[in-house]
Amino acid sequence: MSVVGEHATFRSARPGDAVALAALERLVNPSPWTESQFNSACSAQAGASTERALLACADRQALGFVVYSLILDEACIHNIAVHPLRQGRGLGRSLLNAALAEAVRSGATRCHLEVRATNQAARGLYEGLGFRLDGVRKNYYPTATGREDALLMSMPLTELENQT
Ligand SMILES: CC(C)(COP(=O)(O)OP(=O)(O)OC[C@H]1O[C@@H](n2cnc3c(N)ncnc32)[C@H](O)[C@@H]1OP(=O)(O)O)[C@@H](O)C(=O)NCCC(=O)NCCS
Repeated sequence: MSVVGEHATFRSARPGDAVALAALERLVNPSPWTESQFNSACSAQAGASTERALLACADRQALGFVVYSLILDEACIHNIAVHPLRQGRGLGRSLLNAALAEAVRSGATRCHLEVRATNQAARGLYEGLGFRLDGVRKNYYPTATGREDALLMSMPLTELENQT
């Protein structure tokens, strides 16, 4: 099935989505989350978790997702991915914007995340939206040849509050 030309719609993840999210994750991440790691975000609608997941779909196929959590007034991005055939066309930015808007509606005033120092695409996405560096966890992530730093970033959601 082609995923290039389809128009994507967004919806909250449901319990049955964990399999599709794990399959998409395996396409883009050398150390992918497992299906069970997606389960809690996909159960959020039942109120069973602080984690939530938003999906971009076309023709019932998952093209992208963002997993985030909400604790009191703090949001945290845990994972985001876009299908390789749909990357570079604005879907990642739209997904993240949609998750941040949803977080603001739920009362979040700040959002945090963590990213591999070598992940230029993700860093560009986050910096472009207004995330700024808070600190570095040295040698946090394993790589094929050793370890690399994790960058800790955050942004205030106060400006978004006026737009939602
Ligand atoms: C990171 C990711 C989600 C971005 O999704 P995307 O749909 O390709 O990104 P978008 O097209 O919305 O691009 C938004 C911004 O991200 C940055 N960006 C995207 N791809 C990039 C690349 N290959 N190199 C550098 N910057 C890039 C740019 O700043 C871009 O803004 P611009 O188009 O105005 O230049 C996607 O590349 C992906 O799934 N990567 C694999 C999984 C991953 O690394 N997740 C992050 C975990 S922290």
